[in-house]
This record gives sequence, C-alpha cells and structure tokens, in this order.
Amino acid sequence: MAKIAVIGTGYVGLTTGACFAHLGHEVICADIDADKVAMLQRGEIPIVERDLDRFVKEGLSSGNLSFVVGAIEASKASEFHYLCVPTPQGEDGAADLSYLERAAAEIAECLPTGSVVVNKSTVPVGSTGIVARVLGRSDVAVVSNPEFLREGTALDDFLNPDRVVIGCSNQEAAIRVAALYSKVRAPIMVTDPISAETIKYASNAFLASKLSFVNAIANVCEAVGADVNDVVLGMGYDKRIGKEFLHPGPGWGGSCFPKDTIALAKIAEDHGYEFTFLNEVLRVNEEQFERTAQKVLDVLGHDPAGRRIGCWGLTFKAGTDDLRQSPAIEVLKRVSAAGVQIKAYDPAVKGPVAELPDVEVVSDAYEAIEGAEVLVVLTEWDEFRWMDFDRVAELMEGRNIVDGRNLLERTQLIRRGFTYRGLGR
Ligand code: UGA
Repeated sequence: MAKIAVIGTGYVGLTTGACFAHLGHEVICADIDADKVAMLQRGEIPIVERDLDRFVKEGLSSGNLSFVVGAIEASKASEFHYLCVPTPQGEDGAADLSYLERAAAEIAECLPTGSVVVNKSTVPVGSTGIVARVLGRSDVAVVSNPEFLREGTALDDFLNPDRVVIGCSNQEAAIRVAALYSKVRAPIMVTDPISAETIKYASNAFLASKLSFVNAIANVCEAVGADVNDVVLGMGYDKRIGKEFLHPGPGWGGSCFPKDTIALAKIAEDHGYEFTFLNEVLRVNEEQFERTAQKVLDVLGHDPAGRRIGCWGLTFKAGTDDLRQSPAIEVLKRVSAAGVQIKAYDPAVKGPVAELPDVEVVSDAYEAIEGAEVLVVLTEWDEFRWMDFDRVAELMEGRNIVDGRNLLERTQLIRRGFTYRGLGR
C-alpha cells in the first residue's frame, strides 16, 4: 500500500483522499484553510456528497486518512503527491493555473527522491510540463491522472470508473500510478500527458455538446409536436448513442462543464483552431436558459412585474448543494429581471443566494408555492415528484406548472386541473 499526499481538500481532493484510504492506502490530505482541516479532523464534511462522511470517518478511525495544514507536512514523507487544487476560469476564458503553480512550488524542495507528482485537477493542456518545470526536479516524475467524478456520485465514480487515464512519458511512474488502482476494476489507459489532459477536456465538452444537442432536439419536438421523452428513449437504444446524458433540462451547468467547454475553445483558439462548434454548444445553452425563463413569463402574460411564482430547485443538479453555474440561477435571474416575485425552495440550500438578491429562499416546498401563479421546477430532486399535488393546487393562486426537468407526472397533474408545460412535449 502506498503513501499518498493529497494537496487541496475541495470536492476532488476530498473524494480522492477518502477513496484511496478506502482502498487501503495511507493518505494525508493537506489544505491551507486551518478551520477546514480542523473540521475534517473531526470527521465533519463541508460539502453534500453521498457516502463521503462515512468514508472519511472510516479512514480516520482506521488511521489510513489524516488531515494536515500545509502541503509540505503531507508531502515530505509521501511517495505520491496528488495536486487537487482549483483551476478557476481566468478573465480570458483560459484556466487560471496560479493555485497549481503555487502548490508545486511549495512542495518542490521537500519531495522525496523517486516520488511522483500527479495532476488530478482539470488542468490546461500542457500543465504536466508546467508543473515539471516549476518543480525543477529531475528525480521526480510528473503524471496526469484526470478525474471523471460527478458530484453526487463521486465516490462510486472513483471506485467503479469507466476508465482510469494516466498520462506520463515515464513508463515506470505510469505503472506505479496504475498500481494505486489495483483494487479497482476498470480499463487503465496509459498515454502521453498532453493526450491525457485533452481526454479530460474532450470528454466534458462532448457531454456538454450531447446535452445542448438534446435540448435543441427538445425544442424541435415542441415545434413539430413530438414527445422528447420518447424520442430520446428511442435514440438511446442505439448503443452508439447510449441512454445516458439524454435528459433535456433548463440548460447545463455546474463547476465543470461551462468552465471546461470555454477553456477547450480557448485552448483550440490559442493553437490556431477556431472551435466554432463548441462556441455554438455554449450559445445553445444560453438560449436554453432564456427559453425556460420565457416559458414562465409566457404564462404570466403581458405584465409579469409584481406577479408571484414559486420555484423548486436551485442547485445545478440533484444530489449536491453546489450552486456554481446553476441553470436554475440563470433562469431565475432572467425571470426576476422582469420584476416577477419569486419564492424558491431547495432541499440542499438554506438562506439567500447571493446571485439572486430579489429571490426569497424558504425552507419548505409548500411555502414556496403559496399564493403563486406558477410553479417552476428547475432541479430534478426526486422528492418533488412525491409532493401532495392536491395541497399544491389548494395553496397556489393559479394552477400552472413549468417543469424544466420533465420530472413530474404530467397526466396526473393535468387530471388535477393543472396546466403543465414541460420541455419538448
Ligand atoms: C461533470 C462530468 O459528468 C464528470 O464526468 C466530470 O468529472 C466532472 O464534470 C468534472 O469535470 O469534474 P458534474 O459537474 O458533477 O460532472 O455534473 P453532471 O452530472 O455531468 O451534470 C452537469 C450538468 O448537466 C448539470 O446541470 C445537469 O443537470 C445537466 N444534465 C446532466 C442534464 O441536463 N441532463 C442529463 O441527462 C445529464
């Protein structure tokens, strides 16, 4: 079993550390935030992620997992150093590498000879080389091992991945990184670092393209009178297309797809290729926010200012408390700009949302729709399907539902006298 340092205890670092500890490795996770480290040492988890608390507690009690302040403390006696620091979007769309460079510079001198530094964060193409230059250590290998974790199912994605990608020009280091996953049943692919980094961007951009495509198909379905739920089901039976990631929505978001799609377009542009296709994928997504907002405004008619609507769902998808680049926020911003009064409920969000200063966030789904003319559903939390719609009908001022996730049972709602507007049907 290996000694692994994980630098950065965000969503990627924490999942990586907890899962490697679960696989039996000795993991030390480091962060610069002393309060967060103290919290993690007590087994308290700062994010909503299924099973993460159980894994962290298990690691703490077995002694396989520990948390320290400062990367050097974690790295000085480790064989592997996983860099899991943020790479936020910079002003020009390219990823900002300053956290990565700072982390590499910090650990450069303390790294034991023969150890391996691994880039796990989504980093621009060429970053493995940049880290190697910052480290300036010919006795330390640098490897790219991109993550393919989805928030909400991150631990399962780590332990049961579709593939493990390792990018390295040093065969021996690649084999050692592959061995960390020996208990994981998945194809392990070894390639050069630039290809590994590109695989990550291409995968996210492809999935985002698939979603923009499916949202555009939903719009076609609306225009021609087809039902998108049946259309995607019929498409998904084709193994070349696949059933997953075919669910239309109010647009796609989260901390990865928007950032990575923009970054890939920028990387291509910087290397002389105009990736107009991806720019269009992004534009279609903006249009989807707009269209979903317009569905709500259409119900309210000519003078939406001052009218009341209720919203269920704020997070960028179900199973997380993450609001970053949430399509729900994008849609509500547009509805709110028309002067509509909004009360919103989300099971994972307490208190106000900074980007939506005029939206009142309440702690009960029924409170959100009391006196509302329209209920709009923007995140696919399962509990919304099981609400008491007789009570909803009584509490609402009008019986209008805009289902931005095609989540609710349309026929049952129509039977109860609701006007139902979904996507693409
Ligand atoms: C995404 C990728 O799925 C992961 O493989 C990748 O590792 C991760 O980004 C990352 O780069 O870190 P995540 O951001 O957690 O994972 O979210 P997804 O589950 O991919 O959902 C992204 C957006 O697409 C959400 O807004 C979601 O609601 C939307 N979506 C997803 C749909 O509208 N329809 C679908 O059928 C699936």
